[in-house]
Amino acid sequence: MNIIRRVTDMQRESDRLRAAGASIGFVPTMGYLHEGHLDLLRIAISRCDISVCSIFVNPTQFGRDEDLARYPRDFERDCALIEALGCDILFAPDESEMYPEGDCTFVHVDHLTNTLEGAFRPTHFRGVTTVVTKLFLAVRPQLAVFGQKDAQQVAVIRRMTRDLHFGVEIAVAPIRREKDGLAMSSRNTYLGEDERREALALFRSLQRARKLHDDGERSAANIQRFVAEEILRSGTMTLDYAAVVHPDTMEQIEDEIHGAALVVVAARIGSTRLIDNTFLGSEGSSS
Ligand code: PAJ
Repeated sequence: MNIIRRVTDMQRESDRLRAAGASIGFVPTMGYLHEGHLDLLRIAISRCDISVCSIFVNPTQFGRDEDLARYPRDFERDCALIEALGCDILFAPDESEMYPEGDCTFVHVDHLTNTLEGAFRPTHFRGVTTVVTKLFLAVRPQLAVFGQKDAQQVAVIRRMTRDLHFGVEIAVAPIRREKDGLAMSSRNTYLGEDERREALALFRSLQRARKLHDDGERSAANIQRFVAEEILRSGTMTLDYAAVVHPDTMEQIEDEIHGAALVVVAARIGSTRLIDNTFLGSEGSSS
């Protein structure tokens, strides 16, 4: 596996590969990889000639009081995992490479970023869209793979990619879960034993929402209330939001659910913030 640290080297390599007719599939990550990340890479590997994975803990998407300093890192282990999978290139720039001194350019996607995660983490998506733009311009992939785990991030990246004519296809992998249902996340490592058990309420609430929907419940308000109560009943968790939304616009469904809908939740347990989601109806079978 080729490890590239500089943007210009990545661009040069990408140009060379594209000129030789190779397609490039890209998986951006912040490292501390788990099977969810590896699923994304498996898709890139199976669909493209060359796979590129990036590891960069992006400071601009963390709020001032968030967990940037303690975000888990294990570069050696990450390298071994993706190399074993057959990844061709690891792009691992440092902060000064991605944000050169004096850097003052940001990419902002309006509307979609104001709600849900954006409401609770006001500067988060600006950081995500800025870094993903920089990564796309460094790697120049034909395909980029993201996880349904971060449903609003998917919607925002899709919109940005379309609006800015990036010419990158966005593929989405279903949520990978632990055996007991907890959505895999690098942040799960923060959870103590009791918290880990309590965190299962997120998955349980989403499963029950799907069951309600399968049994014919179509009131978004009822499903939303049910999910919120289920999470709050679990013990010490506090809820940032529980909502039934349109998967593309992330707008809340106010009345009856017709067609595609997504239930999204975010909760805090101790000092850890967790998110999860599920589709209602047929699309939900995989996540
Ligand atoms: P990170 O949290 O490292 O996640 C990298 C990718 O893995 C994202 O597309 C995320 O949705 C996906 N992912 C994480 N957990 C998953 C799971 N349990 N199942 C399926 N996919 C999962 O998301 C980011 O990094 C950053 O915002 C990034 C896009 C890299 C920009 O900095």
